[in-house]
Amino acid sequence: MNHPQGKTAALLALTGALSMVGAQAGTFPDYGFAPPKSSYPSPFFRLSQNYPAVAPGPSSMPAFFKQLPANFSNDFETWRTYMNEVKKYCLEGNTEVAWDVQKNKVRQWYHMPWQHYGPNGREAIHGLTKEAPIQPKQLASTQTGNGQTYAVGIYNDIGAYTIGQVWKDPQNPDPSYTSQPKGFPNGTVVCKALFADIDINTVPSLVNPVLWSAYTAKDFYSTKRAITKVALIQMDIAVRDTRVKETGWLFGTFQYNGAMTGKSGWDNLVPVGIMWGNDPKENGNAFTNPTPTETKINPALKQTAINANTKELPPTHLGWNGRLNGPVDNPQASCLSCHMTAEYQQLAPMNPTFQPNPPPVGSDEWMKWFQNIPAGQPFSPGTRSTDYSLQLSGALANFYDWKCNHSGIYADGKNACTNVKSLNLMKASDAPEQEVFKVQRSPDLEELQ
Ligand code: HEC
Repeated sequence: MNHPQGKTAALLALTGALSMVGAQAGTFPDYGFAPPKSSYPSPFFRLSQNYPAVAPGPSSMPAFFKQLPANFSNDFETWRTYMNEVKKYCLEGNTEVAWDVQKNKVRQWYHMPWQHYGPNGREAIHGLTKEAPIQPKQLASTQTGNGQTYAVGIYNDIGAYTIGQVWKDPQNPDPSYTSQPKGFPNGTVVCKALFADIDINTVPSLVNPVLWSAYTAKDFYSTKRAITKVALIQMDIAVRDTRVKETGWLFGTFQYNGAMTGKSGWDNLVPVGIMWGNDPKENGNAFTNPTPTETKINPALKQTAINANTKELPPTHLGWNGRLNGPVDNPQASCLSCHMTAEYQQLAPMNPTFQPNPPPVGSDEWMKWFQNIPAGQPFSPGTRSTDYSLQLSGALANFYDWKCNHSGIYADGKNACTNVKSLNLMKASDAPEQEVFKVQRSPDLEELQ
């Protein structure tokens, strides 16, 4: 089945399902793009959406919280134990069920709704969303062709409680639950696995790959899909921790290096690094490294710690001027830089380069994207924060696009949203009049529209 049919199926499922009250299995669609059942007989992806209705108690606090270093240093070795423990927490019970998280026997994990929608929406095999193109030489000097990235993110019970609150009324989601004085609670953990659709023979670190079947686009810009094999390349983590004074969040990432163990497996994920702030005063550009032949670690950064073990970490490009970013991320950005723009409506682009006439690199205007914003505080005045969750801001944008633009035009020429006054989110009342940005990972995505 190709794109338009897949989408229609999802929308039909949705219109029927949204009349139900409260979020429970079946309220939100599972996926947007499904291959013909005959070509993939195994069960399809199911969205984990039985969000806890009561806030999880202290016994749910992840044990790795005890491993947080007393002093935050840019020496990665002080973070190694912490990162190893977070990785274990993400993978325990999940690797053996290929992230069919509802079968996890160790702990419960949940998905963000409304990621099925639109041209990048979830495919039906593993619930992967289409993320970004991979540029030639982004992963290795021998990688001369293009590629694309697919991913799936999961929330622990503490974070999922907040997702359930936001979407309690599936017809009227409410991000005041992720805006100050509220927000994702202390102990929220999000893990995200990223896969590359690329000629793995050209990327040395993808030897002994972990391969998943996925229903992917023929290439990043194509609307035609086919079942292919994609290779695990990166795993991201985000942890809400009130002890982190800069932003309230820790973002870290792991990169696949199949040479580590010499055989296929998730234990080949080696740490790239961790960050807890954007180093707002560091405005140099000397360590930006889009086509890496070595990893360039910037010692001036005090709120990013990068793994300096070159036996473990393949040459990788990191983010702007050496801030943390993963191999399939944008080398002009950083994890926290993109994620702190998460708001509804999304008035701000995620990166200073994602707009016409970007400001000069390192200028005051540019540095707005490299501040430290507290958890739950929006980037743009007049909007609601989605507390560093770009899945939530994207989900809200998808929901309102469907609700307002695709559920019919009324005889008076108005759409469903202008008629239904109770939708409190369409436009933040005090938001300035300006263009609203679609949530995107790279400007190339605009070419899809
Ligand atoms: C160019 C912007 C950008 C950069 C850089 C970026 N991300 Fe994201 N990230 C996104 C977008 C957009 C989403 C939502 C869609 C999705 O899941 O891919 C997302 C989703 C996530 C999620 C799922 C939960 C959520 O917040 O929505 C996690 C966890 C995450 N990213 C971690 C990271 C980490 C760790 C890094 C750095 C290594 C990073 N991201 C770098 C744009 C970015």
